[in-house]
Order: sequence, then structure tokens, then C-alpha cells
Amino acid sequence: MAVESKFDPKEMEFRHLGPSGLKVSVFSLGGWLTYGGTQKGNIVKEILETAWNHGINFFDTAEVYSNGQCEIEMGQALKELAWPRDEYVLSTKVFFGTGRKEPNTRGLSRKHVVEGLKSSLQRLQQPYVDIVLAHRPDVGTPMKEIVEGFTQVIRNLNLAYYWGTSEWSAVQIQEATQIAERYNLIAPIAEQPQYNAFHRQRFEVEYAPLYEQFQYGTTIWSPLASGLLTGKYNDGIPEDSRFATNKSFFEGSVKSLQSDEGKAKIAKVRKLTEIAEKLGGNVAQLSLAWAAKNPNVSTVILGATKVSQIEDNIKALKLLPKLTPEVMEEIEKILDNKPAEAPSYGRKR
Ligand SMILES: NC(=O)c1ccc[n+]([C@@H]2O[C@H](COP(=O)([O-])OP(=O)(O)OC[C@H]3O[C@@H](n4cnc5c(N)ncnc54)[C@H](OP(=O)(O)O)[C@@H]3O)[C@@H](O)[C@H]2O)c1
Repeated sequence: MAVESKFDPKEMEFRHLGPSGLKVSVFSLGGWLTYGGTQKGNIVKEILETAWNHGINFFDTAEVYSNGQCEIEMGQALKELAWPRDEYVLSTKVFFGTGRKEPNTRGLSRKHVVEGLKSSLQRLQQPYVDIVLAHRPDVGTPMKEIVEGFTQVIRNLNLAYYWGTSEWSAVQIQEATQIAERYNLIAPIAEQPQYNAFHRQRFEVEYAPLYEQFQYGTTIWSPLASGLLTGKYNDGIPEDSRFATNKSFFEGSVKSLQSDEGKAKIAKVRKLTEIAEKLGGNVAQLSLAWAAKNPNVSTVILGATKVSQIEDNIKALKLLPKLTPEVMEEIEKILDNKPAEAPSYGRKR
């Protein structure tokens, strides 16, 4: 029977995920702290549906998010939404486990890569994910075993199509890729790093060789620095905001807003707001468009507790073509944090 298409890409831009043939929407949606955390039930479905209705085809979760509850909530929403499975891309991540104490229920041993992913799929009510990510490097497991484990879930068990890394060093990613080449195993295709206007060094400098050597993809997280880049923390901590609803986790972040460094960040947010308004948008949209402007970003993962946040943030697509070199220069001057490139001694290609 022919599958009836339910997906309408609208104005969305799609990018290849790294060297693979897989295409992901330049804005995607993830569930850290939100789904299964502060948001449960119908609201999760409504937010996912809003994202999809705006052309978002990529959704991200992890075994550790709310100790497995995020996968349960997102899985249930996906089941009820009943989109054709070949019209969306789903990722989950293994490494941190789900809060259990037994040592083999976390890490990247072959045992946990296989069993962790199987448990994730059960919670998600899915036969496979498109991408499984190693949520952190595991220095306690030999790299060859890690690459073998991910190859096994893809090649032998059909539990995923691709694998990737999250917050690995460039050297670790190179090692995994070289091992895959040497032993005819499957190499990772993308990294999930933090990247936003206040957090740039690793993405822009350390990973630069990976983009060139492997066309390594990136699914970037916390593009709004957990909300700081929306301006919502300019004048204190709103009651229903992440810094208040996840108080102990963000205690340090709240405190740092009182420091000179924190105050300087808020001052920058205010100045960026002026640029955003001149362009006909707001500072959240500008910050998201700024991240998406980087050609090494495959997709910017949004986080949202409300339908209205998706509707607001997706308008970043409209700002993207307005980020001319002149505007980017203006933003660069305000940020004043461009990381220095690695030295090339006049030998740049
Ligand atoms: N691999 C990793 O280690 C890792 C780590 C973290 C995240 N991630 C992934 O990346 C995804 C996105 O990260 P993130 O949630 O930290 O992204 P973010 O964009 O930095 O923060 C999203 C949060 O900001 C607030 N917000 C968003 N839009 C807003 C708007 N227009 N106005 C006001 N407030 C707004 C919402 O929180 P409130 O409404 O609660 O304030 C929302 O949940 C995660 O869901 C997860 O999939 C991965």
C-alpha cells in the first residue's frame, strides 16, 4: 500500500548530516529537561506537532533525559501522531544510563551500547532510531570496542542507521574514525556539541579539522544558552523559566549572572536585541539564525516548553538571509569573543 505523505517542508532548509545521505531540517527539536521532566502528556504531542507543522523533521532524545521518561513521553507522542516513519529522523543517546547503580548500565562497553539502545527503543516504542549517539566519550572502554559496539547495532542488529558522538574531543573522533577505516567498521558521522554565541571555542576551532577531513556533521545543543539568549533573564529569573524550574541544576548559572562576566553577557544580549529588532525579529531568533549561519552546523536543536516558543523561534528562518557579512560583523563586535584560529604558519589551503 502506498504511504500517504503527511510532511510539508514549508519554508524549511534541509542539510546533509555530515558525510551521510541523510537530510535533516536546519532547526530540530530535543527533549532535555522538558519532555518527561517539566512537561508531560498532551503538551509534548502539541509541541512536536507544531515543530513538524513548521517543517522540522528531526527529533532528539537520550536515555538519561529524565531517567528514561523523555523517551517514554516522546515515544508516546510519536505513536499518537502516527507520522510515516520514513518522513522523520529520530536520534537517541547512550552513555549515562537511566540513573541505575549497576556499573554495566552505563558507559560505552559493547554490552551497554547494545542493551542501552534496546532499552531506549522499548521506551520509545520504536523498532530503530536513525542515529544513535555516544553521549560522552568513555575512556574506560577501548576505542575499538566502542566502534565495534556501534557497528554491531547498525550492521548486525538493525537498531540504527548511523552513529555519532557528543562532546568528544576532536582527537577521540579522529581515533574512532581511523579505527573504523582500519578494521572495516562503521565510522561516526556527526557530533552533538554545545554551540551558541557564548560558547564557541571547541565548535569553531578544535573541530575545524573534522569538518575538512571527514565532512563531520553537527547537531548543536543549547543554541540559546538555556534561554539566556532570549533576554528572559535580563531582569531576574521568571518563575516558569528553566533556571527556576530546574533550580538546583542551574544554581551556578543563576549565581554567575551576578558576576561581572554574567553582567557582561546580559549587556551583550541587550545590544543584540537592538540588532534583532532592526532586522524585524527578536534576540532569540537572531541567536538561532546566527548559529544556523555557520555552514558547519547541520542542525540547530531547539528546546521548548511551550508551543509559542516553537512558533517564535522558527521565525529565525526569516532572519537567516538577513545576516549579511555587515550584520555578522556588527554581531561579532558586540560578542567580542571570536576564538583565535589555530596557527597555520602561512600554509593555509
Ligand atoms: N548532547 C548533549 O550533551 C546535550 C546537552 C543539552 C541539550 N542537548 C540537546 O539539545 C536540545 C536543545 O538544548 P536546550 O534545550 O538547552 O536549548 P536552548 O535553546 O538553549 O534552551 C531551550 C529552553 O529555553 C527556553 N526558551 C526557548 N525558546 C524560548 C523563547 N522563544 N522565549 C523564551 N524562552 C525560550 C525554554 O525553557 P523555559 O521555558 O523552561 O525557560 C526552552 O526549553 C536538548 O533538548 C537536547 O536534545 C544535548
